[in-house]
Formats: sequence, C-alpha cells, structure tokens
Amino acid sequence: MYAHITGWGMAVPSRVLTNHDLAQMVETDNEWIVSRTGIQERHIANPEQTSASLAIEAALKALEVANLKPVDVDLIIVSTSTPEHVFPATACLVQDRLGAARAGAFDLSAACSGFIYALDIATQAIRTESVKNALVIGTETLSRFVDWEDRTTCILFGDGAGAFVLQAGEEPGGLISSVMRSDGSGGNLLILPAGGSHLPASPETVREGLHYIQMHGREVFRFATRVMAQATEEAVKKAHLSLEDISLIIPHQANQRIIETAARKLNFPMERVMVNVDRYGNTSTASIPIATCEAIQSGRLQAGDKTVFVGFGAGLTWGAAVVIWSGPFPVRRRVRPTRYRLLARLRSILLRLVRRIEGIIWGNG
Ligand code: UT7
Repeated sequence: MYAHITGWGMAVPSRVLTNHDLAQMVETDNEWIVSRTGIQERHIANPEQTSASLAIEAALKALEVANLKPVDVDLIIVSTSTPEHVFPATACLVQDRLGAARAGAFDLSAACSGFIYALDIATQAIRTESVKNALVIGTETLSRFVDWEDRTTCILFGDGAGAFVLQAGEEPGGLISSVMRSDGSGGNLLILPAGGSHLPASPETVREGLHYIQMHGREVFRFATRVMAQATEEAVKKAHLSLEDISLIIPHQANQRIIETAARKLNFPMERVMVNVDRYGNTSTASIPIATCEAIQSGRLQAGDKTVFVGFGAGLTWGAAVVIWSGPFPVRRRVRPTRYRLLARLRSILLRLVRRIEGIIWGNG
C-alpha cells in the first residue's frame, strides 16, 4: 500500500507587511533584509485569525482538490510551533470545526521540520493500513510570538498554513523515502523560553520578554547549510534514485542564502529549486506545503514528478523526503475496490487485445 498525495491547499492572511513597513518599526532597511535573507514581504494574521483558522482554510481547499469530505478523514496531524494552546491540541480544534467526526487528531512539534515528520508519520499509518485517508497540516501564527522590537528576528517570520490530503492506493507513489534527524544539544539556538512547564508564564517572564522567539541566527545558519544537502542526499539514496531523477527540490523557506548554499553543495541547479521566501518570509512548518501549492499552480510540479522536501529548524531538527507526486485520484476510484479491480482487469484485457489487432494489421504481431 502507498500513501498518495491527492489534495493540497494553502492559506495566508491578506495583510502584507513589507520590508519598508518594518523599517518604520525597527532599525533596519529593505536593502539589508533582501541581501541577507531574500525576503521582501510577509503575511501577518489579523486578530481574528489563528493557527487553527488558517489550518482549516488550507485543509478545506486540500479536501476539495482530493474530492473528499471531512467525514472521510481518518487521521489529522497538525504540525505547528504556534499552537492555539499548550493543550488541547490544535488538531482537535481543527477536527471539530471541520466536522471530521471519524478522525483521530494530534499535534506534532518538530518546528520547521515538522511538516516532513508529519508526512512521514501519516504515510506510515496508511502503508500499514491503519488508516486510509489522512490530513497533514502545517500551520503557524509566528507573528504572535515575535518581539516586534527585535530586528534580528522580526524581519524573518510570516504567518500561513498548508495542507495535504494523503490517500491509500496500490500503485507506487507518494512518499517513498525519508530521513528524520535531531540534535537536542542545540535546543537553545532557537527557542521560546517561557510558557511551558520548565518556565511557566509569570509577570517576570513577560517583563523579560521570555515569551518571544530567541535565536542565534549565525549558528542556525551554519547548521542549516550543513544538514540540508546531507539530508537530501541521504533521502535520495534511500529511494534508490540519484539527484538527476529529481525534477524539483522544495526546501523549507527560511533564507534565500541558505537555499542557494545547499543547492550549490548538492551541485543542483537553482532553476529546479522552488523559492518563494521573498513573498512569505519564514512560515516555519507551513513553508514547504505553501511552496508546493505554488509549484503546482505555476506548473513546476506535475503528476509523476519526483520531488524532494527538505527542512531544518528548532530542536534542532532536520529531515528530507522523496515524493512521487500523484495528484487527485480519478473520481472512479470511489467505486468499491472489488468492482474497481474488475474494471481495471477488463481494461487491461481490452488494451492487450487492441495491441494484438494492431500488430496483425501492421504485420509485426
Ligand atoms: O527556520 C529556521 C529559522 N531560522 C533561520 O533560518 C535563521 C538562520 N540565520 C539567518 O538567516 C541569518 O543569520 C540572519 C538573517 C538571521 C542574520 O544574517 P547574518 O548575515 O547572519 O547577520 P548577523 O547576525 O551576522 O548580523 C550582522 C550585522 C550585525 O551588526 P554588527 O554586529 O555587525 O554591527 C547585526 O546587528 O547585522 C546587524 N543586523 C541588522 N541590521 C539591519 C541584524 N539584524 C539586522 C536587521 N537590519 N534586521
């Protein structure tokens, strides 16, 4: 059994914050931000938008593409670092508001690598026939956790969500290999220090700004450029493929320079690397599905293509996955499996017969 990606959707808030807007808020300028990161603008949630509401918007679009109803979904995994609450899981809010009455739901916390982790877990659940249809969502409202007075972080992040529908199918396809890695010794390099059980929220933590994202940018940069190429190579090798077989790499969109460095290390042409960090900034776990949606929209990713998702983030975590892109199942797949198999058999007998007749007519049969 394989786990085909048959639906996709993205949601970003309509409010856009440009580098010029940021230059009015902190001591920075467009030239610095573009040259160091490639980012030109990012989308910021309105007060009524949350990680769950963006996730639902993206999920509904993905279900529509896959031609599924929320009750068809067996499993919902929401990858996020900006959940609605410490608990209950954001995935449960999504499950309820979607009306996915038959679905199990849980959150996955692996920061910017989370979408790759979630994709892998959902794939394993389908391949072992524990579930048939899964929703994998990456969603973030990082703007709620950014210190808007800290120029070293506030210029980087944006809000958004992306969702995939995964469906069981017998033909090979979907995620065919993956690599998941972590190194907790680097946990302090990118951290939201307060609000958990280690350091519960208090007037002091708020006074000291410990409920905001803290990052050692240079170290994270060095780590990212080291692991992106490594993980990609490993996942491709695990899939028994070579980089020439990969039509498009869709990396985590954190920084244009990180992406270019990784591509250079892989000796992989930038024309075959998806980049949209300029318009969304770093949306953490949502960046890979958002970039995928845009790759499909622009015709850069099509059914049958082999693509690599690769990401890194807080934890530290990193990972890569090789995916054979599927696209929505034809509607006739909703026919009962026995009837479907019979029809497929009949079709292949007819095709063979036609080829035989053609052979006789053209004299090589
Ligand atoms: O999903 C994972 C999330 N994290 C990342 O991907 C972050 C990875 N790291 C990076 O992308 C880069 O390290 C940054 C973009 C964050 C920073 O770029 P950098 O080239 O590593 O700059 P830097 O931290 O070495 O800072 C260089 C200078 C410093 O000034 P001094 O000390 O040389 O005088 C900073 O204070 O740039 C200054 N600076 C800024 N100047 C204007 C830092 N932020 C800004 C800013 N505008 N926004």
